[in-house]
Amino acid sequence: MKLKTFAPADVAGKKTLLRVDFNVPFRDGKVQDDLRIRAHAPTIERLLGAGAHVALVSHFGRPDGHVVPEMSLGQLVGDVERVYGKKVHFVDDCVGDKVTDAMNSLPQGDLLLLENSRFHPEEQKNDPDFAKLMARPFEVFVMDAFSAAHRADVTTNGIMSVLPSFAGNLLVKEGEMLGIVCEKPHIPYVLIFGGAKVSDKIGVVKFLSDLANTVLIGGGMAYTFLKTDRRAIGKSLREEDRYVFARDIMDSARTAGAKVYLPLDSVVADGPNATTSSVSDDVPDDKMGLDIGPKTIELFTKSILSAKSILWNGPMGVFENPMFAEGTKALCEAVAKATSWGAISVIGGGDTASAVRKFGFADKVSWISTGGGATLEYCSGKPMPGMDPLRID
Ligand code: 3PG
Repeated sequence: MKLKTFAPADVAGKKTLLRVDFNVPFRDGKVQDDLRIRAHAPTIERLLGAGAHVALVSHFGRPDGHVVPEMSLGQLVGDVERVYGKKVHFVDDCVGDKVTDAMNSLPQGDLLLLENSRFHPEEQKNDPDFAKLMARPFEVFVMDAFSAAHRADVTTNGIMSVLPSFAGNLLVKEGEMLGIVCEKPHIPYVLIFGGAKVSDKIGVVKFLSDLANTVLIGGGMAYTFLKTDRRAIGKSLREEDRYVFARDIMDSARTAGAKVYLPLDSVVADGPNATTSSVSDDVPDDKMGLDIGPKTIELFTKSILSAKSILWNGPMGVFENPMFAEGTKALCEAVAKATSWGAISVIGGGDTASAVRKFGFADKVSWISTGGGATLEYCSGKPMPGMDPLRID
């Protein structure tokens, strides 16, 4: 998906509202992971470099239209200053005279952080009057919050009907990379699905399987597929109400000419916290499959190394326990190698992104999406209210 972005002249000297996603993990007064804040640094540098006067707006948690002090963005000022190396001023609202006054006195080069937009119930109702109110102190809007772009809120959608609007660097890059794997994949295209549940990924599996040359299915969700293939899965995770879906997906991908590979073997144990494990083709009645086994790693690796584009969504096992981490780690290595040979590799957000980072492969893949829910929605072909109005192809 190609998005309309800004040239320096579009923002020079202009009061610019930038939608970021500062919905970061926060505990004991501290940001636990500042990745989402860092992800907006290129857009902020480009805006400030062009001479824009920049205010940042975001949601933080789900306060449901109430003022909840624990969800105040004021708590993030120190982290935002540290990450961007800029002076950050804070206003305890995101609309009204306070914002106008703060914008009028903001020195160019400093940043203004507005209060949590979800303190107002109108935000998530995408209320057009609230959009006008929010737009009042500004001349330009830049959308950069990919991870919130599946929400039709005022700050992700409605405001674009009021102000001249552009995509920031992060949104452009997400659209470009997800666009490749969801719309125009380079062939051979290998899709890797994993994670605990089929039901979390139904939309993506349905939307993308027919596009792929090879579909690799691992993780907890594989056992629902294996069961429909009449394999013994012991006590492994399964979703009985998804057997028909699993069957249909395998049939339709195969009819479309794709190869669908399920695990040939598993690392099995009593449960995710077990301290002993073994490898077996079929899962014994009293055990669970908690990672893919060595034969599967070999099969999956071979497919991955032949790919020209790869989308990976969901780990191969319970990688938090080192005993069940090998499958996910081996696939990280394979995807990194394929990338070094010229493949485009895109890692869906959430657990897969954590695994790729944990095992040290973050800079060896083409792109790690910053979205969780947003990535799944995009890869399911659903509308993206925070991107669609900016689409130019
Ligand atoms: C996220 O954390 O996935 C985004 O910030 C969106 O948050 P939401 O699910 O509360 O809209």
